[in-house]
Amino acid sequence: MMLPNLKDAKKRTKNKIQIIKDDYVIPNDVKNVGINKKYHIITYGCQMNVHDSENISAILEDMKYIRTDNMDEADIIVINTCAIRENAHNKVVGMLGRIKHLRETKKDIITIFCGCMAQEESIANMIKDKYKWVDIVFGTHNIHKLPIYLSDLYKSRKQEIEVYSIEGVVYEGIPVKRDSKYKAWVNIMYGCDKFCTYCIVPYTRGKQRSRLPEDILKEVEELKKEGYMEITLLGQNVNAYGKDLDINYTMTNLLEDVAKIGIPRVRFITSHPWDFTDDMIDVIAKYDNVMPYIHLPIQSGSSRILKLMGRRYTKEEYIELFNKIKNKIPNVAISTDIIVGFPGETEEDFKDTLEVVDKLKYDLAYTFIFSKRVGTPAYNMEDNVSMEEKKERLARLNELVNKYANINNMKYKDKVVEVLIEGASEKQGYLMGYTDTMKLVNVKCDESYLGKIVNVKITDVKTWSLDGELYNE
Ligand code: SAH
Ligand code: SF4
Ligand code: F3S
Repeated sequence: MMLPNLKDAKKRTKNKIQIIKDDYVIPNDVKNVGINKKYHIITYGCQMNVHDSENISAILEDMKYIRTDNMDEADIIVINTCAIRENAHNKVVGMLGRIKHLRETKKDIITIFCGCMAQEESIANMIKDKYKWVDIVFGTHNIHKLPIYLSDLYKSRKQEIEVYSIEGVVYEGIPVKRDSKYKAWVNIMYGCDKFCTYCIVPYTRGKQRSRLPEDILKEVEELKKEGYMEITLLGQNVNAYGKDLDINYTMTNLLEDVAKIGIPRVRFITSHPWDFTDDMIDVIAKYDNVMPYIHLPIQSGSSRILKLMGRRYTKEEYIELFNKIKNKIPNVAISTDIIVGFPGETEEDFKDTLEVVDKLKYDLAYTFIFSKRVGTPAYNMEDNVSMEEKKERLARLNELVNKYANINNMKYKDKVVEVLIEGASEKQGYLMGYTDTMKLVNVKCDESYLGKIVNVKITDVKTWSLDGELYNE
């Protein structure tokens, strides 16, 4: 058993990142263990976790398990957890309750608990003490060892907990079973060194570590050969890509090299404003296949709060960057993340946030109430804003955010836009996809259009989506 340790998770040394290419092995005794067995996987959290789940699926399928979307018929249930806010926690605890119930009639279900919550000391301890029936717990640093844990479990039937609190290494050669045939996630870096004072990610994901350019470009080339239409480069801070590599190769270089491979759509998330260079803006503007959509979290419109958050930019610097992006990239859409109720946020600070939103008119904003995370600096900051007040601020903010989401969407009325048709829509007779600017569109068409980029005339506009029909000149 190895439990996580907050002190180690905080550590950052100058040690060089290790790249390991041959650590994924399937022991002989579990090579065919999944024959006639099914797995079900539940994923919470960000795209990083979604992509990790694609790795976990592939690993299980390597052992011949088959995927099922019906939890009731699963022999293995995997919960890939998120620790970012308290409500993410609560959902997971609720899910554990459901699985426990299921086990009453199906004793031999294997339950696997992984992801960012597993990296938290208190949670790993809780599983050890209160959820003894959970079979395997591993963290974000050792997904590739799942076959070994399963092999051990089949031999001993004892709870197996192995969570490393290390700065991290980069593992190559872990298989992936992608959810989509048209869109693919590509990790370009892992971890985060920004240590924003509210955020748990640097502890759950370890030190920033970039993959080597050649490994990323090889993956993208393969995706091109397989016919993928869109890729999204993934990292907590993609703009800081390469800074840890010592090779004089930056996100700008990577984005340009990836664009040149020629996949029709290239996206990236998330951009921290701190590392956003002019060169990078130029590359986005220069290449038609780099999509004009940027997620640029602001977190707060008050420079005082931004300082307390450790975000390393002021309101003015953010606005300057925002305007530069808007001016240089035609038709660009920008979305953001905002936290309300950070410890000590006054009505005045909050009004600064409203003011910035009013000025910048975001296409979309994801808004959150501050949630205290154990081990982060903000955990100990004096928080004298009541929950009632925080909820009220969130409602006021959302009203403004929705107003601009709607106004921005209205601009699309009767326009013809390109949409990559990717799957079922909630609307009967329609399929769904996104514009280059990441607007969700329900398109009246049949399944022969799946995986194609088509011209769509927008017929109807809502706050969160657009409706449209195929358009032929
Ligand atoms: N790496 C990304 C953010 C990843 S977390 C970035 O820096 O932009 C996604 C969002 O969750 C954050 O942008 C932030 O708005 C929100 N978030 C993170 N920690 C939070 C906390 N403790 N309470 C509330 N929201 C939080
Ligand atoms: Fe968290 Fe800040 Fe890192 Fe984003 S940049 S993951 S908010 S610490
Ligand atoms: Fe959640 Fe971990 Fe992502 S905490 S947001 S799943 S990096």
